[in-house]
Amino acid sequence: MLFQLKQKILKEISQAKDLNSLEEIYKKYLGRQGELTKVLRSLKELSEKERKEKGKLANQIKEEIAEKIKARGTKFSGKTNPALADKKEWIDVTAPGILPVQGHFHPISLVQRQIEEIFQSMGFSVLDGPEIETEYYNFDALNIPKNHPARDLWDTFWLKDIDLLLRTHTSPMQARYMEKHQPPLRIIVPGRCFRHEATDVSHDVQFYQIEGLMVGQDVSMVHFKGVIEGFLKRFFGPEVRMRLRPGHFPFTEPSFEVDIKRKGPVSTKASAGKQDWLEIMGAGMVHPNVFKAVGYLPGKWQGFAFGVGLDRLAMLKYQIDDIRLFYNGDLRFLKQF
Ligand code: PHE
Repeated sequence: MLFQLKQKILKEISQAKDLNSLEEIYKKYLGRQGELTKVLRSLKELSEKERKEKGKLANQIKEEIAEKIKARGTKFSGKTNPALADKKEWIDVTAPGILPVQGHFHPISLVQRQIEEIFQSMGFSVLDGPEIETEYYNFDALNIPKNHPARDLWDTFWLKDIDLLLRTHTSPMQARYMEKHQPPLRIIVPGRCFRHEATDVSHDVQFYQIEGLMVGQDVSMVHFKGVIEGFLKRFFGPEVRMRLRPGHFPFTEPSFEVDIKRKGPVSTKASAGKQDWLEIMGAGMVHPNVFKAVGYLPGKWQGFAFGVGLDRLAMLKYQIDDIRLFYNGDLRFLKQF
């Protein structure tokens, strides 16, 4: 009799067309007044032996049917209908949740922020400049006239059809700022620059520079050395060493290049094969022609300017051996910061 009941219920389940009819079936057989429930309830009137046998069978059938209803319900709704779900189901409120993914700064931003903080503590203001520049600010105002071979130092992306370019360095901001402000002044300008060059481990078509400029009545190379040494010691630690090499830039005179050496081997691919001094910036005393271009009285002011490679500093700080990693969006790289 129980077996026939089971067959009947299974047939109904397999013919159920939707969740509602399944719920009806559940109620009809397994609900408080359900047929199967009644059978189970009536067991207590039987003898102990009978009760054991029949009870076991009835419970098995009950479980099987509940299971079938649940399975068919899943088919209709795509998920388990709570009304039909196993009554034993529960929620473990103490189970650990799913951690939300937390954002973080890009290594370039991290390094930029550290550098800004250090220079701000020395009285420098932080400025922004346009990434799309005019030929005048990128070159002419910086004592690099048209058709002068010095322009070849900067492989330039020219914009199509309009007289603009992607800035090849942050130096144009020297002229832009001095045009509008009188000395004494102290600024740094972090920003993205672009050069039309082949890429390799230490060159990319885009990179970051930080321009620095300090002008006053008696600002000399001594100030430059003091400021840069102070910056480097705070950024890399007190053991860092620096040296100045003569260099050439049309907008500084004299010009120099700054190399640094960190304690222990500097192990980057970019530095492999070279001696462990690494070039990180170009600098010099601002050329009188630049002062002239921005309308400063000749001879009245003097100061220094520098352009430091932000990517280079980040590479050294975090021992990254390929500059292109900064820009390819690879999460395996980015998640390490
Ligand atoms: N603008 C130069 C470059 O990109 C660096 C520099 C900045 C040199 C300021 C001197 C003074 O190579």
